Amino acid sequence: MKKSGFPFILLSVIPLAICCVAAAHAQNYPKAKEFRIERSLAPQAIACLECHKQQNPGLFADWSHSRHASAGITCLDCHQAEEHDPDVSVEHYTQYQRTDSPYGTQEYKIPVSAVVTPKDCSRCHPDEVTQYSRSKHANTMEIMWKIDPWLNNGMNSDIERKTGCYHCHGTVLKTKDGKLDPMTWPNVGVGRVNMDGSLGSCTSCHTRHRFSVMEARKPEACGQCHLGPDHPQIEIYMESKHGDIYTAFGDEYNWNSAPGTWTPGVDFRGPTCASCHMSGAGTVLTSHDVTERLSWETQAPLTVRPSDFAAFPAKTDWEVERGKMKEICLQCHGNAWVEDFYVNFDQAVENYNEIYFKPAKAMLDSLYEKGLLDKSRFFDEDLEVEYYELWHHEGRRARMGVMMMAPDYAWWHGFYECKKRFNTFMKEAEHLLATGEKAHRYEDYPGATGVTTKPEEIFGNK
Ligand code: HEC
Ligand code: HEC
Ligand code: HEC
Ligand code: HEC
Ligand code: HEC
Ligand code: HEC
Ligand code: HEC
Ligand code: HEC
Repeated sequence: MKKSGFPFILLSVIPLAICCVAAAHAQNYPKAKEFRIERSLAPQAIACLECHKQQNPGLFADWSHSRHASAGITCLDCHQAEEHDPDVSVEHYTQYQRTDSPYGTQEYKIPVSAVVTPKDCSRCHPDEVTQYSRSKHANTMEIMWKIDPWLNNGMNSDIERKTGCYHCHGTVLKTKDGKLDPMTWPNVGVGRVNMDGSLGSCTSCHTRHRFSVMEARKPEACGQCHLGPDHPQIEIYMESKHGDIYTAFGDEYNWNSAPGTWTPGVDFRGPTCASCHMSGAGTVLTSHDVTERLSWETQAPLTVRPSDFAAFPAKTDWEVERGKMKEICLQCHGNAWVEDFYVNFDQAVENYNEIYFKPAKAMLDSLYEKGLLDKSRFFDEDLEVEYYELWHHEGRRARMGVMMMAPDYAWWHGFYECKKRFNTFMKEAEHLLATGEKAHRYEDYPGATGVTTKPEEIFGNK
């Protein structure tokens, strides 16, 4: 539609433009574009803006402060759907039968979906989406269903999964009676399985409708998921010198430098999660695949190389990836400092694998073999829980505390706790071996009602 048809509408959009530019300057956006209407917006797009400005002022304000708004990317660019899309909002059609809004009429009608997937973003950001799609973030639902006993043995309930596991990992989106099924929505987990077949939700780190790089560069963007007894990365980071520096100097960092130009020493003096794992530096390019730059798989029971992780072998060479991480460190540190750090890291991994994990695993296997422990379900016998916490809680904390420079996690929450856990586990196991007594089974394990069928959206009908 031509501008001449909607002069009053454009006028009402322009004041927003001015407020955007002012806000942008106030917040020191170096590369923010001036808000100009560089193309005539479709009338349907103007209808979204005008109606939702009234309907959801908070949502609208977020969008209007985003770089998308400066570039003239509107609601329609992301939310437009096809009528036959399974996730199209049937209810939304009724918005175009309203008498109380000038935009609530048939001429503006267009199918929309609340779901906006990486595939939708890929129209304009193909590289980020391709990198993301190979990461363990995107593929976590497949990984979980291959290896996790909570799911495969049905040891927790559907609501425990939806509000816990899947909140971080993602749901398999479904509709029910023409609407998104509340057992799968709302959700922005990293590996959400979308109805168009794409994986993930870009809002895990760039919350809508700002979609800002600034937010994703801050450690808090990762901390919602990377915390707690089993992977306390945010706590580890805050304990490390890098975290101390962030606390002391973070408000002087230039968080908003243009994508791909965020430079150690220029824009910030201590690294965040994003600087080490995602942002580019030196000759290392920015990547949305967080599996890059890793040389060990320390979340696994036995630490292995990422390419040897059976459930989802990375297509990377650990030495090349370690080289990339080192190049990040070398932006701020000398060679010996970095090399010696890795010598310690490798020794700690070996210490965990050989001294704690392998003997405990051998003991567990022999109890199963002798029938003293029952293999049909996991977590319903105390020794299984002890073994699980040894690798999944304290064993991870020990390795992760070392690799991200947090001594309290490496030792007090880590190896110290491993020793305690190892001793109790071995004592109970030896007792069973000596007496031939079978371990107590919690027959009425609480809440063990979750489905155990692997999702066919990922695994097919097998
Ligand atoms: C005449 C007003 C009006 C117009 C025009 C309009 N919307 Fe809406 N829209 C609404 C209202 C009201 C709701 C909330 C309905 C509710 O609360 O369930 C809504 C809900 C939505 C939702 C959430 C749907 C869901 O199923 O959760 C999305 C996404 C959306 N609108 C996008 C758009 C886009 C994109 C456009 C332009 C193509 C648009 N809207 C045009 C009024 C409007
Ligand atoms: C750059 C793409 C993009 C643009 C532009 C955009 N959205 Fe969204 N919107 C999203 C994403 C992503 C989500 C999260 C949905 C998901 O997780 O799949 C979302 C969610 C929503 C939701 C449902 C969630 C909620 O909090 O209720 C509504 C409603 C919505 N958008 C309306 C709008 C409106 C109105 C505009 C224009 C002012 C707009 N969007 C512009 C990408 C976009
Ligand atoms: C129609 C094209 C288009 C679509 C679709 C789109 N974007 Fe963008 N996006 C852009 C443009 C253009 C810019 C650059 C704006 C600038 O440099 O001022 C941008 C910038 C960004 C930025 C950088 C913001 C910053 O603070 O510098 C992020 C993050 C982003 N987009 C995420 C997304 C996500 C996530 C989606 C899908 C939900 C998406 N975009 C969909 C065109 C699009
Ligand atoms: C607070 C967010 C959160 C919750 C809740 C959560 N996880 Fe995780 N999970 C993570 C993160 C983050 C990692 C990655 C840890 C790492 O790499 O250090 C992870 C790792 C895993 C892994 C290991 C994957 C691999 O590559 O080895 C599995 C399996 C898993 N989670 C399953 C589950 C299940 C099942 C539940 C619920 C019973 C659950 N998670 C609850 C965030 C969460
Ligand atoms: C795990 C967190 C995370 C997720 C999930 C994520 N991003 Fe990002 N994204 C970042 C970080 C961190 C940066 C900043 C990189 C830098 O310093 O320039 C960024 C930057 C960007 C930029 C700016 C250009 C660039 O590459 O630096 C775009 C565009 C973008 N992301 C799009 C997306 C899209 C599309 C998705 C979904 C496929 C997505 N992001 C998912 C963390 C994330
Ligand atoms: C919404 C939850 C969520 C957010 C936010 C999140 N992650 Fe993750 N992350 C996960 C989960 C879940 C996994 C485990 C995936 C698996 O192995 O199955 C994971 C795994 C990882 C891994 C391990 C990859 C591997 O190959 O072992 C790294 C590194 C990582 N995340 C870094 C980050 C960084 C950096 C950020 C912030 C910029 C971030 N994540 C934000 C949930 C999240
Ligand atoms: C100083 C750089 C640095 C910072 C800052 C940093 N990390 Fe790491 N991270 C590392 C190194 C080094 C490793 C081990 C890499 C390897 O395997 O060789 C690692 C490993 C990881 C892993 C992999 C665990 C696995 O599956 O093996 C996750 C997840 C992770 N970091 C998340 C985070 C999060 C979240 C933050 C911020 C709260 C963060 N990191 C901050 C350097 C950093
Ligand atoms: C943006 C700059 C920057 C990057 C990138 C960076 N560091 Fe640091 N790091 C620092 C600063 C500054 C200190 C504080 C030095 C001091 O104690 O005076 C520090 C401290 C450390 C310490 C000492 C911790 C302590 O508690 O004494 C270690 C070890 C370390 N870094 C290792 C690494 C490794 C390994 C990498 C890469 C994975 C890395 N750093 C990346 C800036 C950086």
